[in-house]
Amino acid sequence: MSLALILLAAGKGTRMESDLPKVLHRLAQAPLLWHALRAGQALEPARSVVVAGHGAAEVEASAAEVAPEAQVVIQEEQLGTAHAVAQAKSALAGFEGDALVLYGDTPFITVETLEAMRDARAGHDVVVLGFDVADPDARYGRLVTEGDELLRIVEFKDTTEEERAIPLCNSGVVIADAATLMSLVDAVGNDNASGEYYLTDIVEIARARGLSAGVVRCEEAETLGINSRAELRAAEAAFQARKREELLDDGVLMSAPETVFFAWDSYIGRDAEIEPNVVFGPGVTVESGALIRSFSHLEGCHVSRGAIVGPFARLRRGAELAEEVHVGNFVEVKNSYLAEGVKANHLTYLGDADVGERTNVGAGTITCNYDGFFKHRTTIGREAFIGSATMLVAPVTVGDGAMTGSGTVVTEAIPAGALALARTKQVTKPGLATKMRDMLRARKAAQKSAKEG
Ligand code: UD1
Ligand code: MG
Repeated sequence: MSLALILLAAGKGTRMESDLPKVLHRLAQAPLLWHALRAGQALEPARSVVVAGHGAAEVEASAAEVAPEAQVVIQEEQLGTAHAVAQAKSALAGFEGDALVLYGDTPFITVETLEAMRDARAGHDVVVLGFDVADPDARYGRLVTEGDELLRIVEFKDTTEEERAIPLCNSGVVIADAATLMSLVDAVGNDNASGEYYLTDIVEIARARGLSAGVVRCEEAETLGINSRAELRAAEAAFQARKREELLDDGVLMSAPETVFFAWDSYIGRDAEIEPNVVFGPGVTVESGALIRSFSHLEGCHVSRGAIVGPFARLRRGAELAEEVHVGNFVEVKNSYLAEGVKANHLTYLGDADVGERTNVGAGTITCNYDGFFKHRTTIGREAFIGSATMLVAPVTVGDGAMTGSGTVVTEAIPAGALALARTKQVTKPGLATKMRDMLRARKAAQKSAKEG
């Protein structure tokens, strides 16, 4: 059975108090939108439709980053969730199969739950995702059921006291045959407390047509919706707590996990160790047995088995560390490949560079990769020795086994096995330091006695 996703993301998110559309606020370093979209994508939908409204151009650009195949349709006016779903009609023309409606502001929905919903379609024409809430004041729509059948959904604003006592709430996620769903949303009216077209009304309409509706249950935490900064912060804390637990269970060693921050897609291998106070930006993979020491910041990089990073290291986009690489304190690596056993232990910038196996990069080395207009590459061979404070003015190459003297400014290729020295020759004047010191001391004393006199 083929599947279409309809992701609702047109709302402004008034309570975020922000110029940024709500679904573009970041959770675990990814826009909210991506989380639900990614869960939906795991079901391998034949089509994906994002319904955008507020900040549509930005929402479209963001969706394209994770789901380039997704079609974005515009809901000019936000007249309600049923109206939003109806906007997907033209994008689904000719599609046959089920349509799954997801919300852009509910990031924690799991693939397992979505799969359970798809399976539940075998027994019902319309399947709604629900969850139990103990609090009668929780502002969710309530699911009115009878046995296995869902009779109707009552929006919180429209509930009677009796209906508020129903613990089973609406998550908003719905699945039905796409053509059926479109015909149901077309029949929805807006005669209710908010004057909106409620998607939830499709249940009663479906039943009046002799169709059946059912419920799949999940945990409340999974359908948590984000409407304010406070809720976003709480969701971030929930994400971090869950991710840390998950990684500990997977065999990652962390002595103070509460001080380590992960991104939505962080991957850390078993037996890797993360010391306290490490931040992972998006796109990081760390292999088994690597050690990430305190106060390091990593994003868009790969750290292989046995590598040691930090303390105080920064790995940026495109940093690729092979096995047993050591990157020490105050070392920044960007868009560079460090082959097996490379060591860059202190105060170094490696940008747009390739460094061969077991090369040692001395303290204070800098790849001068930018001329103000263009970026250039530095290529260093294997088992080379880069002396401290070497400036590698790119584009430049250093051959296998070559050496540079400390303080060398490299502007020309260094052949394999050569030693390059590019600094002024040292001049030594015996006794001159002592002489100068005596002279300066005398001058200082004269100045002091002149002042006092
Ligand atoms: C909705 C449900 C409610 C459920 C709750 C769960 C309806 C009528 N109500 O209420 O039963 O308990 O979610 O969180 O469906 N959106 C659009 N266009 C619109 C309106 C909304 O794209 O015209 C999008 C929003 O951007 C958001 C999602 O749909 O991503 C949900 O809208 P929201 O206004 O948050 O609905 P709730 O009032 O939370
Ligand atoms: Mg909501």
